[in-house]
Amino acid sequence: MRSFTALSELSLKEVDDLLTLAKRLQERPEPRALEGKVLGLVFLNPSLRTQMSFQAAMLRLGGGSFVVSPDRGIHQLETRSGVVMNGDAVEHVREAIPVMASYGHALGIRAFALRQSLDEDLADRNFRALAALSPVPVINMESAIQHPCQSLADWKTMDELSIPRGSSKFVLSWAYHPKPLPLAVAASTLQMAAQRGMDVTVARPDGFELPATIMEGARKAASSSGGTVQETNDIREALDGAHILYAKSWSATSCYGDDDADHELRSGLVDWRVEASWFEDSSKDCRFMHCLPVRRGVVVTEDVLEGPRSIVLQQANNRMWVQMALLHRIMSPKREEA
Ligand code: CP
Repeated sequence: MRSFTALSELSLKEVDDLLTLAKRLQERPEPRALEGKVLGLVFLNPSLRTQMSFQAAMLRLGGGSFVVSPDRGIHQLETRSGVVMNGDAVEHVREAIPVMASYGHALGIRAFALRQSLDEDLADRNFRALAALSPVPVINMESAIQHPCQSLADWKTMDELSIPRGSSKFVLSWAYHPKPLPLAVAASTLQMAAQRGMDVTVARPDGFELPATIMEGARKAASSSGGTVQETNDIREALDGAHILYAKSWSATSCYGDDDADHELRSGLVDWRVEASWFEDSSKDCRFMHCLPVRRGVVVTEDVLEGPRSIVLQQANNRMWVQMALLHRIMSPKREEA
């Protein structure tokens, strides 16, 4: 494995091999596997879990890491091409990325959606341009339209809980949030559940449809894995018989990039919040998932978030184990199979 930028790059066997390796590293630690190896972590946007889980993963494998982010006093970086740099930015990523990459053996990059053009974000143009500057393998730590490490961790979490890969209903629901958030987690989660062979329903209010290319990609993945993909604006209908409810807020796609129009659309949707009554017609053991961070009382009520259905902490913990497997695959001198 050279780089890891999207879950769709992996076959089912490759996902299984990675999850097997993650489990092995969890049960039988290899504290010297990446001795002498260095991982650079470039965060152009904030993080808690991604940063700490990658750093912990490297430490547990005997390697080291460095974190670079604008709030750590680095020079303000310019990402646009062809601009005269007479503003605040003093360094261009065209120099900064190769320099940072030259200090390590792999580079993680987080670069959220710019949310100016839906087409640009769907093409993941910003992240791809940054990744192309790195001479060492790149790991996507969340881009405009992908959060593959989160999706691998979510897949592992469902496997641990014996949530069947086929014949199980996975509901990805939009939830209210005061700000227009990127599409990355929603798009990755849909792809992951479809690739896992689940019957996926996307529940979202009108105006918040996921883009057609995302839905088509998921339908294609589902048709290969035996799953299905549907969408509805009726959350009750969606949750009928559901085994998983995965909540996430995202931007209105009907007015992408227009924050005023988005705000107007979402302001009438504050009640689209996960609460206990949502589970009345779900399967008895329906689980609640969220990638975190989550706003209590806004996206989900506290009783659901802290109740027995919630597996959010297990999801977050699994970030570290799946990333250990990824780093092992990418950087281990032996490059052994699981
Ligand atoms: N889920 C996730 O990526 O969390 P952070 O934004 O805290 O890294």
